[in-house]
Amino acid sequence: MAHQSDLIAEDIHAYLKSQEEKDLLRFITCGSVDDGKSTLIGRLLYDSKLIFEDQLAAIEVDSKKVGTQGGEIDLALLVDGLQAEREQGITIDVAYRFFSTDKRKFIVADTPGHEQYTRNMATGASTVELAVILVDARKGILTQTRRHSFIVSLLGIRHVILAVNKMDLVGWDASTFETIAGAYRGFAHGLGIDDFQCIPVSALTGDNVFDPSEKMPWYQGPTLLDVLETVDVSTDITERPFRMPVQWVNRPNLDFRGFSGSIASGTLRPGDMVMACPSECQSMVTRIVTMDGDLDVAIAGQAVTVVLADEIDVSRGDILAAADDAPESTDQFAGHLLWMHDEPLLPERQYLLKTGTKTTTAQITDLRYKINVNTMEHVAGKTMELNEVAYCNFALDQAISFDPYQKVHETGSFVLIDRFTNGTVGAGMIDFGLRRATNLTWHDMEVGKDLRAQQKGQKPCILWFTGLSGSGKSTAANQLEKKLAAMGRHSYLLDGDNVRHGLNKDLGFTDGDRVENIRRVAEVSRLFVDSGLIVIVSFISPFRDERRMAREMVEADEFVEVFVDTPLELCEQRDPKGLYKKARAGELKNFTGIDSDYEPPVNAEIVLKTADHAADDLADQVIAYLRDGGYL
Ligand code: ADX
Repeated sequence: MAHQSDLIAEDIHAYLKSQEEKDLLRFITCGSVDDGKSTLIGRLLYDSKLIFEDQLAAIEVDSKKVGTQGGEIDLALLVDGLQAEREQGITIDVAYRFFSTDKRKFIVADTPGHEQYTRNMATGASTVELAVILVDARKGILTQTRRHSFIVSLLGIRHVILAVNKMDLVGWDASTFETIAGAYRGFAHGLGIDDFQCIPVSALTGDNVFDPSEKMPWYQGPTLLDVLETVDVSTDITERPFRMPVQWVNRPNLDFRGFSGSIASGTLRPGDMVMACPSECQSMVTRIVTMDGDLDVAIAGQAVTVVLADEIDVSRGDILAAADDAPESTDQFAGHLLWMHDEPLLPERQYLLKTGTKTTTAQITDLRYKINVNTMEHVAGKTMELNEVAYCNFALDQAISFDPYQKVHETGSFVLIDRFTNGTVGAGMIDFGLRRATNLTWHDMEVGKDLRAQQKGQKPCILWFTGLSGSGKSTAANQLEKKLAAMGRHSYLLDGDNVRHGLNKDLGFTDGDRVENIRRVAEVSRLFVDSGLIVIVSFISPFRDERRMAREMVEADEFVEVFVDTPLELCEQRDPKGLYKKARAGELKNFTGIDSDYEPPVNAEIVLKTADHAADDLADQVIAYLRDGGYL
């Protein structure tokens, strides 16, 4: 079973050839460090003899020092050591380890196992064919095991091994194993994981990892390696339709124009007809160029430059696809979302959605249901917490080319990115496009914003007042509107308390409701700007994200952010509506500044200090800004 290392010395060419011809299995291990994941990966590397001598010597010394395994080699140190190294370097979500046996080469994505690392698991799992889910024989199936199994099934990984580890610590007991395997069987079937194998192992002693265990004669099934070496993954991504997201248009001189990228799925040959998406132009492949010369055939995973017979419209971010089986296009879709951020998801907030090489703005328009990973029940919910999974509808700013995830993983998966921190906050899989939007058409009307503004003799804009409750927004806004009216200007004042009496009377003060509150007011403001008005908005609008969203809905010079900067202590002292008092007494929940966040603007166009200026002065300050900017 050991690696053919002798061949390296005898005939290096024969060795390299045999390596090249072996097929490759990519798999992940899921489970926490406590379940023995590091030890298992260490064991696989050790038994396949791929640990270098000097690493081995270091581990032996460390094992004696640390002493977790009574002087024996602690294989976890190998993996954990590498991990520590990795943590010091640039952040990589997942580490890949390579080993091989006589029959196959393996790449194992090593994904940290704590609940909060589900994220890493999801990123590590997108290209793998098999998952090894570890459980500790003493603990059995845990919520985490179910969560990982569920994510594995969502990711479309068809082969699963449940490795019941630490059998040495339960006296190699058959019934313990059977109970766990039995419980898992029912659960896996419910998830639609049909190809799975339960194996009792001890990663520490190596029993049933590479070689069959003598301690567990009652188990007649395959060892872990038997399954890894023989599992049939032949219906892999090369058999799926051709897809290549274009990373760049390669045009070194006028005689050459090629499209470079990595083939995400399928196979490509010169002579194939391809379609560029979204332009839907078609052309024939004339050459497939690589660093090592032209290819007769290229498959998923290869980085190539494709040359076409015609000059068609293809840009970075587009997808080249098989002409007879092209992706769909939509700006709305339904799909699963895995939330991976400490702060909850707020539906209606705008996030960036990245698929392939394309990034667009996205919103969750409907959180249809969340999924309880223990029972698979659908539960209602307004937000998502860390590690939760939900089925949602999404709306995008621009149409994307996509495939349902089950058809092509690479063009059917996406990540959500926070617009401020640029961190990944979610990952998802597209189920199907929603065609609703395609039945709607935008009408260009003949009387436009310019004409309306001209009639009113002014330049429309939004003056967006933000600040704490009691900061003096409404008072200053009211004063400003009076002055504008006296100057013969046309304006409209949208005030939080007032709008909440009508349009937004269905909304409360949870973060999600506030996001929706601001979204609606931003939309109304946009319409009012279009009608040629000077719009004054006076809402707490506590979140930067939504204020930015409002800003981006209109032209750059049409949005003026006015920060009414009054210290919390002063607002509380004023307490015009007695609400701070109630909030302090615990009678009013989610009160801004007390138990709900306010994110002050970082670069507002105007800052009003109400502590030492009267409302009249503050209104003049805004008028001066408008005059200087040519608004008035
Ligand atoms: S926002 O946060 O969603 O922008 P908005 O400006 O519409 O708030 O409404 C704020 C007004 O609602 C406050 O001036 C106050 O009168 C009232 N209010 C009632 N409950 C709360 C609360 N929990 N937090 C803040 N304001 C509240």
